[in-house]
Amino acid sequence: MKTDSAPQAVPFSGWKQNLIDDARRERSSSSEGSPGPSRYRDGFGSGSGSEEKLDRVRLNVLFTLSSEKNAGFFKTGKIFETFDAKLLHIESRPGRNSKNGTTDLEFFMRCDVHGSDVDVFIDSLKSIVEDVRSVPEEKGPWFPRQLKDLDRCNMLITKFDPDLDQGHPVSTKDMETLSIGTQNDTLKWFLKGYRDPEYRKRRAFIAELASRYKQGDPLPTVEYTAEELSTWREVYRQLRSVYPSLACRQFLDSLQQLEQECGYGEDRIPQLRDVSAFLKERTGFQLRPVAGLLSTRDFLNSLAFRVFQCTQYVRHSSAPMHSPEPDCCHELLGHIPMLADKEYAQFSQEVGLASLGVSDEDIEKLSTLYWFTVEFGLCKQNGSVKAYGAGLLSSYGELTHALSNEPEYKPFIPEETAVQPYQDQTYQPVYFVSESFEDAKLKLRRYSAAIKRPFAVRYEPLTCTVEVLDQPCRIQNALSKMRQDMKVLQDALEKLSSS
Ligand SMILES: [Fe+2]
Repeated sequence: MKTDSAPQAVPFSGWKQNLIDDARRERSSSSEGSPGPSRYRDGFGSGSGSEEKLDRVRLNVLFTLSSEKNAGFFKTGKIFETFDAKLLHIESRPGRNSKNGTTDLEFFMRCDVHGSDVDVFIDSLKSIVEDVRSVPEEKGPWFPRQLKDLDRCNMLITKFDPDLDQGHPVSTKDMETLSIGTQNDTLKWFLKGYRDPEYRKRRAFIAELASRYKQGDPLPTVEYTAEELSTWREVYRQLRSVYPSLACRQFLDSLQQLEQECGYGEDRIPQLRDVSAFLKERTGFQLRPVAGLLSTRDFLNSLAFRVFQCTQYVRHSSAPMHSPEPDCCHELLGHIPMLADKEYAQFSQEVGLASLGVSDEDIEKLSTLYWFTVEFGLCKQNGSVKAYGAGLLSSYGELTHALSNEPEYKPFIPEETAVQPYQDQTYQPVYFVSESFEDAKLKLRRYSAAIKRPFAVRYEPLTCTVEVLDQPCRIQNALSKMRQDMKVLQDALEKLSSS
């Protein structure tokens, strides 16, 4: 046991998947004009891309049809035909003006028009209908709308896995980069892990299980080797000894349940299938196997569906207390107990919902928020500070460092946290402390509401789908559902007060 080690004497041994770096790299590659996969060239309202679509502009057109111009509607149709405008959606409602007992009609139309025709198309409409207004629909990154869309959220970042990226083979340059600074543990891990052909073969086998997975399939199980179990045991034993004094109450409660009901313990690496079923019952979260490091956008987008993308391999046995990439020790010990807490699960999903369809710049800020909360967050509890971040709860060295007198603490304020410089060469010099998960969630909601996005999203738990509120009818439908829910609550209150 190393629990009596002074925090400053513990070598750097933290887990450092750098989501922020990944987001920054994705942002710079897209700004360099990299076309990327076709899904990112689509508008958010379309399902598949084509070169023709790139020449067309999607317009939301509003106009009023006077009750005195009965033929106006048919002339409008003729204009659409003339300009080869593809009508995608149409709504009408009574207008505000009434004349001679009849009422004007207001129309909302969504259509695709050739980019070069937009001005003359609008001018033509103005010649036959009134009060024409048009708003070009902004194109945005593709994002998943339903669970099965997560099969497309599989863009891998291959920073640490040369086997998965033939375009970036291990080179002397990589070695130089890894030896910069004091990351001796990372270098050791790299030398022993990725120069070990048996380990690489094992990683490739487990990665293949994940890459074959499709939404709805049974989660794959892995028969772990004695060597992998030994690594897990060492990590579990060391971290378990310090959890009672350093981890937050929610983590400890969930871990206890996982030990009683889900096979957590020193002698067994829990299977994703069992853990996912456990989470689903408690918070609706479910796991999905992932072959390696996902792109930041894909990872955050998945959280919107209460899906946590989870690795299944074990770090190399030569460095059991260190892994610069997420492995199942990090996922199962750091993330899973927290995802079993309702408030934390809600917070995680709201980070995911905030990430849908936003700009690369906002993805970078959200990934920084994620880094300093979900991965390295601290919270106040009963007059002291405790850890809830998975990067802390899966790293003995950083956990004890974070709760020592060394680092600086700042209150969690999303606008400041989202732009805080981070440290991935050693432990964080700064941590953000939340008053509570409830408080963090409310602050995140205010931050998310200020993110520029030409639509709002709403999660529908019955169908596990994301509804895009970008049309009046969709907003009205959502309001109608909310009114029904409010009516149920109102009835319940009335019954309580009359009893
Ligand atoms: Fe993580």
